[in-house]
Amino acid sequence: MIAVSTMTSLTTVIVVLLGFLHIGEGGNILIFSGYGEGSHFLTAALVGKELMHRGHNVTVIISNAYEHRVNETKYKDLNFEIFKHNVPPEEVRMRVERSTESIFKGTWFTDVISNLTTLTGEILDDCNGLFNDKALLQRLLQAKFDVAFVDPIWPCSLLVAEYAAKRHVSFMATTWMNNMARVNGNPSNTAFVPEMSTGFTNKMTFIQRVINSIMVMLQMWLHFSFIDGYTNIQHAHGICPDLQVSELYKRSQLLLVNVDFALEFSIPIMPHLIPVGGLSSGQANSLTQDLEEYVQSSGDAGIIVFSLGTYVTYMKEELIAVFANAFAKLPQKVIWQFRGTPPAILDKIPNIKTMEWLPQNDLLGHNKTRAFMYQGGNNGLYEALYHAVPVVVIPLIGDQPDVAARVMTRGMGLSLDIMTITTEKIVDTLNAVIHEKHYKETVKRMSAIFHDRPMRPVEKAAFWIEHVIKHGGEYMRSPIHDLTWYQYYLLDVVAFLLLVLVVVIVFIVYSCKFAFRCCKRVLVGKKAKTD
Ligand SMILES: *[C@@H]1O[C@H](CO)[C@@H](O)[C@H](O)[C@H]1NC(C)=O
Ligand SMILES: *[C@@H]1O[C@H](CO)[C@@H](O)[C@H](O)[C@H]1NC(C)=O
Ligand SMILES: *[C@@H]1O[C@H](CO)[C@@H](O)[C@H](O)[C@H]1NC(C)=O
Ligand SMILES: *[C@@H]1O[C@H](CO)[C@@H](O)[C@H](O)[C@H]1NC(C)=O
Repeated sequence: MIAVSTMTSLTTVIVVLLGFLHIGEGGNILIFSGYGEGSHFLTAALVGKELMHRGHNVTVIISNAYEHRVNETKYKDLNFEIFKHNVPPEEVRMRVERSTESIFKGTWFTDVISNLTTLTGEILDDCNGLFNDKALLQRLLQAKFDVAFVDPIWPCSLLVAEYAAKRHVSFMATTWMNNMARVNGNPSNTAFVPEMSTGFTNKMTFIQRVINSIMVMLQMWLHFSFIDGYTNIQHAHGICPDLQVSELYKRSQLLLVNVDFALEFSIPIMPHLIPVGGLSSGQANSLTQDLEEYVQSSGDAGIIVFSLGTYVTYMKEELIAVFANAFAKLPQKVIWQFRGTPPAILDKIPNIKTMEWLPQNDLLGHNKTRAFMYQGGNNGLYEALYHAVPVVVIPLIGDQPDVAARVMTRGMGLSLDIMTITTEKIVDTLNAVIHEKHYKETVKRMSAIFHDRPMRPVEKAAFWIEHVIKHGGEYMRSPIHDLTWYQYYLLDVVAFLLLVLVVVIVFIVYSCKFAFRCCKRVLVGKKAKTD
């Protein structure tokens, strides 16, 4: 008894001591990845928690529209800094609702294009809000951050990183965003690397390569026109005055990418691009008792997990009925993420259970789960891969068509088009992924590859951030950063070689002409003599 308690207290002392030593060595890390909501924030916060467990001091910047994060127990050890928008928080939350509404109206793309200046102006104004808060800036400077971990999809995060931290590491939360990789100095050959939102694979037809190349130009144009607006903030705060805002991307020490080659297409990546795909996947926790009972009640048929994210609030009743009627025809039970009040039709169908929020990873990890039908977010994709669940993707926006392309190409499931969806199509597609054995076998094989890694994704992400604190990432700097676009595409070399070729051809032609004339003269001369 005494021995045991001595052992226990000894262990405690050692643990405390180790913890103390660990904290002594810990770095001071700043995270800025979105406003505090959505997959960009959630995945970065998971990395933050891992860094914290390793004894670092982690501070996360969020917006006052999502400040409730501060009191969530799962984030209790993180420090938060809250920035204020120039508009009321309700308006910021309304923007998300507005765009999800237009997704289901089918007008999302035209709305975004026609409102582009308004949308980019709003985001720029948020950045002004942040940089106008002198007290916040002062606190950030005083903290003397060793490194910042940012999602530069919002250029403001790069400015904050350069303002407040010695170095920064960037993060790509979506599936492969070729434009982001490109501005970070990755070779991104459009002959076989599909651009985001195209839904293409790495084997493209001629027409697809044409579209892919046009997308590159469009994205680069959007990128540069979008970013120019931040120059005022940059100069007002003396942030890297020698560089343009677009050149700040070149200062990222690393780019952590949320993909894994168990699933991602084979594409070239530079040493400073670190794949950490599957940050949100992990072992399933047990379900709450009533949910477990519901799942068990499905018997051998099992369950289908269905979620269209938060968008579902804006689904029209007719569309809801299409899904509900399909589920009514299936023997499986369906767990449906549904925000708001479900319409009456759902009460009439006994095998549907709606929930406002799903413990998605835990449900996917349950051995009664037969299929996962969802809108195609990157995190859900890797959770399904982790637990070897076949998927049906219903892509709506952003990188979701790309997720669908990966799922189909790799054979881990199927996809459905929301614009032409019918009850029959849903029934057939779900039956196919559940009953045709090759889907389950393929996803099991891919999952085994995904699990055969030396570290969990969050550990790998944390490891590389620590690496940058210790050594920096400059030794891996991409030479592409120092090339102009015509040098990168070797257009100057091609032009030079063409010129040489032309000179040689002209030389040969003139030499021949000259030789011919000489011969002629000699021949004519001879002829004259013999005459
Ligand atoms: C967090 O909790 C504290 C104390 O319970 C409270 O004073 C504060 O207003 C809460 N903050 C937010 C953003 O909810
Ligand atoms: C786009 O602008 C129009 C009119 O200016 C407005 O009615 C609509 O709500 C806007 N849509 C989005 C997604 O901002
Ligand atoms: C952690 O960072 C915060 C800045 O957000 C700072 O106020 C605090 O003193 C730091 N703590 C340690 C132990 O370094
Ligand atoms: C499913 O999991 C339960 C525990 O949650 C276990 O008792 C059961 O044996 C598992 N079934 C199969 C087929 O693996």
